[in-house]
Amino acid sequence: MKLHKIFAASVLLASGLAASAKGTEAEMNAFINDLMGKMTLQEKLGQLNLPASDDIVTGEAKNSNIGEMVSKGEVGGVFNIAGVEKIRDLQRVAVEESRLGIPLLFGMDVIHGYKTVFPIPLALSCSWDMDAIERSARIAAEEASAAGIAWTFSPMVDISRDPRWGRMSEGSGEDPYLGSEIAKAMVKGYQGNLTRNDEILACVKHFALYGASEAGRDYNTVDMSRFRMYNEYFPPYKAAVDAGAASVMTSFNTVDGIPATGNRWLLTDLLRGQWGFDGFVVTDYTAIAEMIEHGMGDLQDVSALALKAGTDMDMVANGFVGTLAKSLEEGKVTMAEIDEAVRRILEAKYRIGLFENPYKYADPSRKNEIYTPEKRAEARRIAAKTFVLLKNEGDILPIQKKGTIAVIGPMGNTRANMPGTWSVAADLNNYKSVYEGIRDAVGDKAKVVYAKGSNLVADPRLEADVTMFGREMRDSRSEEELLAEAMEVAAGADVIIAAMGESSEFSGESSSRSDLRLPDVQKRLMEKLLATGKPVVMLNFSGRPTVMTWESEHVPAILNVWFGGSEAADAIADVVFGDVNPSGRLSATMPRNEGQIPIYYNHFNTGRPLAKDADKFVKFRSNYLDVPVTPLYPFGYGLSYTEFKYGDIALSSDSLKDGETITATVTVTNTGRRKGDEVVQLYIRDLVGSVSRPVKELKGFERITLNPGESRDVTFTITPDMLKFYNFNLEYVNEPGEFDLMIGPNSSDVTTVRFNLK
Ligand code: BGC
Repeated sequence: MKLHKIFAASVLLASGLAASAKGTEAEMNAFINDLMGKMTLQEKLGQLNLPASDDIVTGEAKNSNIGEMVSKGEVGGVFNIAGVEKIRDLQRVAVEESRLGIPLLFGMDVIHGYKTVFPIPLALSCSWDMDAIERSARIAAEEASAAGIAWTFSPMVDISRDPRWGRMSEGSGEDPYLGSEIAKAMVKGYQGNLTRNDEILACVKHFALYGASEAGRDYNTVDMSRFRMYNEYFPPYKAAVDAGAASVMTSFNTVDGIPATGNRWLLTDLLRGQWGFDGFVVTDYTAIAEMIEHGMGDLQDVSALALKAGTDMDMVANGFVGTLAKSLEEGKVTMAEIDEAVRRILEAKYRIGLFENPYKYADPSRKNEIYTPEKRAEARRIAAKTFVLLKNEGDILPIQKKGTIAVIGPMGNTRANMPGTWSVAADLNNYKSVYEGIRDAVGDKAKVVYAKGSNLVADPRLEADVTMFGREMRDSRSEEELLAEAMEVAAGADVIIAAMGESSEFSGESSSRSDLRLPDVQKRLMEKLLATGKPVVMLNFSGRPTVMTWESEHVPAILNVWFGGSEAADAIADVVFGDVNPSGRLSATMPRNEGQIPIYYNHFNTGRPLAKDADKFVKFRSNYLDVPVTPLYPFGYGLSYTEFKYGDIALSSDSLKDGETITATVTVTNTGRRKGDEVVQLYIRDLVGSVSRPVKELKGFERITLNPGESRDVTFTITPDMLKFYNFNLEYVNEPGEFDLMIGPNSSDVTTVRFNLK
């Protein structure tokens, strides 16, 4: 009989916890001690090994490469196997064919949904709606677990201020506070209490600082002060750890000169020591082996370095399973170090109840929980909340369901491009395109016509590179032919919806770009569409903040739709026709040009700031000769089909003492004619300190819904804790003195009052 069965029977009998999937801490320790006592060194190293595989055929797992490794006890977990039957099959090999029957942990990059795909994380963050974000993670966990997955490599909480970096699409933008709130919501959504079979392990990534890669180039060097790490980049990771995230993934980059995967200060002193993390650390894909290229030694050296640093599981590099035995023999690592890592992996398996029921997450009868009408409806509602209305001159939007509506543009009739990067389980061709969504929404009330108008980019090589995951290929017609067709379609239309921007593969991993403007070929199409004199609404698809300076001057209405997931097309129609009033707010600054990058709202003042009213270049000030210092659209920005008016800020007191709180209240009124959501934002500036402090930092926000004419008082409670920061010695403190408190609809348009911390 295999161990898990013996365990289940004995522990359950001894403890009387017949219904519990898990024993107490002491029972867990006893069980793991006993198990580890039986394990050979190779079996131990096997637990630290995480290969990727999808080479198995259901029923044949045993005979696959991975199946052979599993039966020899060389594998602790596997990722990227899609399908509950295959997972069951391979789990059976682990449980029945390997010597000790230790169950496998099955992981996957379920980043923004499984089959029901939610908007890309950057878009989700623009909802500023924590319930919606938690809900998206919950649904992702329900679906992934119904497909056999027990562990997702999400949330990615890397702060980034560089939209050239393609992976901005996978994060929550530039702000540590918003990023931390989202990190917590996602961990909660995925993990719940980690008791039920639809609650899965989260993995916070990429630890750490991956979003600060130099020049926005993926995998590039990171170098920053500890002061900045603690104050600006660490908070979301810490928030996720505090929320109980079960695992952490190392990043590819160096941190203070040492690759994260081999950085003991980062993984042990900080993560476990200072933050009290008690889960396990997995590397990013081949990150151990990549330390060879970083110049840290050969595979044996870097594997030992990773283990000693605090890495527990090796994703794909074969460093642990391949070299640690030799390192042990040569005294380069200790048995205690290996055991510590093994214990952490076994604990994770134990905690989610895999020893009691290895098939807990592989219940084929749960298949009908995936991609249900209810879940899709939720994804549609959430997607509509993420779109950011950047401009709406003459109230072109919402458009009416009448006459002839033309959908034109390379993103107009593509299904596969709707869900966005990291839609690993998506059925790309099942989702509706914009054209189909608009057509279905109008029914027989209007005529909807379509033309592609242009390819995504003029250079066929670039388009081929970014369509590697089977997204639609380019149109073989010439630019002139595509344009001619579009002009003919436009001629018969009353209004034009221009679906433009980036394709899915223009963002995400290994998709950095240096030119963030609309590709020339699309701009030429846009110019022609505008020249028709007809109302033009631009839907901007993007996986990052793009440069929209030209559009902001020429296109009357712009709705940034990011990549909205499986239900994006219907959600777009909901907003375009006004069934839903747009309410997304930017979670990252939109620059005027790439030269402004990095540009972010919570910057320092410098000794030479530009005067507030200066809109032109001023010599010897911190600004540019050729472009204003301000962003095109600031952090927190987004319009609505209605308007909101903010009253004055009422402070309960202008003096705050330790152990007390004060409140700041503002009355917000919907002065327009439609019901709408506003995201009321609170910023604070510490005016004098022992270190320089940012010009403002987000400290709170509230999303409210107001009917036309309705007013609501929004109250924020200010606590001394909210004023804390890491000082020069990295102590988390607040310092008495004056603070500016700002409230407004975005980070630029704020009203300010002052208070004192005594
Ligand atoms: C990515 C991670 C991902 C991993 C596994 C890596 O290339 O950086 O974010 O979780 O692959 O697919």
